[in-house]
Amino acid sequence: MSAAQAVAVLLDPKANHEPVAAYEALHAHGPIVQVADGYYFVSGYEAVAGVLRDPSTEAYDARRLDQQWSDWRENRAVEIFADSMLRTNPPQHTRMRRLAAGVFTARRVAALRDVITAQVEEALDALPPEGDLVTHLTYPLPIGVITALLGVPAEDRGRFRRLAEALTAVLEVRWTAEDRRLAHEAALELEDYFTHLLAQRRAEPREDLVTALAAAHDADGGQLTAAELMANLTLLLVAGFETTTNLLSNGIVLMLEHGNKIDDPAAYVEEVLRFDSPVQLTERYTSKKTLVGGVEVPADAELVLLLGAANRDPARFTDPGVFDPGRTGNAPLSFGAGAHYCLGAPLARLEAQITLPALARRFPGLTPQGKPVRRPRMNLRGWSSVPVTLEGSVD
Ligand code: HEM
Repeated sequence: MSAAQAVAVLLDPKANHEPVAAYEALHAHGPIVQVADGYYFVSGYEAVAGVLRDPSTEAYDARRLDQQWSDWRENRAVEIFADSMLRTNPPQHTRMRRLAAGVFTARRVAALRDVITAQVEEALDALPPEGDLVTHLTYPLPIGVITALLGVPAEDRGRFRRLAEALTAVLEVRWTAEDRRLAHEAALELEDYFTHLLAQRRAEPREDLVTALAAAHDADGGQLTAAELMANLTLLLVAGFETTTNLLSNGIVLMLEHGNKIDDPAAYVEEVLRFDSPVQLTERYTSKKTLVGGVEVPADAELVLLLGAANRDPARFTDPGVFDPGRTGNAPLSFGAGAHYCLGAPLARLEAQITLPALARRFPGLTPQGKPVRRPRMNLRGWSSVPVTLEGSVD
């Protein structure tokens, strides 16, 4: 496959959820390829890491969005991500990130270990002898954890799978008019939901993140505007489970393929993250002439950073196509790097490090029942169903 063919695959929504062959072709070509005027794909590990850590590159460029899609401001889903810390540049990013990091502390996450363990055991107890692990485990578990942390009532959990799936379509490299419409509607529904929840928490404050973030807004509007409060709450909810779901399902399918023996949970999860990254790409914009992978990129260029490709760069990883939980020096870019490094990385890792070994221990005879089905997405990569039988379970 040539680099041009690889780019065509990655831009084709029907083919791009199987990107590995295209990544290999890009690696053979070099760390960066120009796709169009001012538009590049970056696949090399060092080049992707370098752009993410370069403070002169920006996570958001309204001018380029205006060029590509003049009425994007009318799509609430795009606007929500644009208002959130994910797609904001300093100084707004620095301010929001500091505030969120202040309430989303390492202590709060570490304190969740027992809560997560209890939720995993409860989910495993309730698994049917035959069934789909996406429906029965990999969705309900991360939804349960993030809603508990945010303070979203347990009875509302059932609504979020569909809404997150619809909303996050706008994070793909390509999306259809129907995707846009559904994403917009999901954004309005989530906004309406949080408007009511914020009113409840203001009336009766609790020890949760919704109350803490609302208080940060109310204390001084300069810390967090109303639009930013809404955007970051939505981001935390959706980013909090949609990606973790994919990490769990990717890990389970790899366990089923390679034998479900996990010696070192932390190393195992890092290798799942590298081999089958739940987030395959992100984007940056240059604010000035920048050298990327040895190529001079002009100012105002759009860089698609292929995290999933970087994680399989043969210049960085020996035998990148081999799933090897024992590999040393494993440092995948699945959570990004630099100023926007994933705020939820410790939580996502903790959930996977508890869930995968618990599943393997409880059901050593876990067996696929038919083929798992890939989600039809490139960026947020996971499975829509993983049918199994628990046969051989040792209770
Ligand atoms: C396996 C699970 C996860 C993966 C693979 C993942 C991946 C990522 C990546 C790649 C970024 C950086 C995007 C960029 O640089 O443009 C990011 C940012 C972010 N993630 Fe995650 N994430 C995961 C779980 C979570 C969880 C559990 C939460 C929240 C509880 C979360 C919240 C966030 C937030 C708030 C940001 C924006 C940070 C910023 O812009 O400063 N993520 N995530």
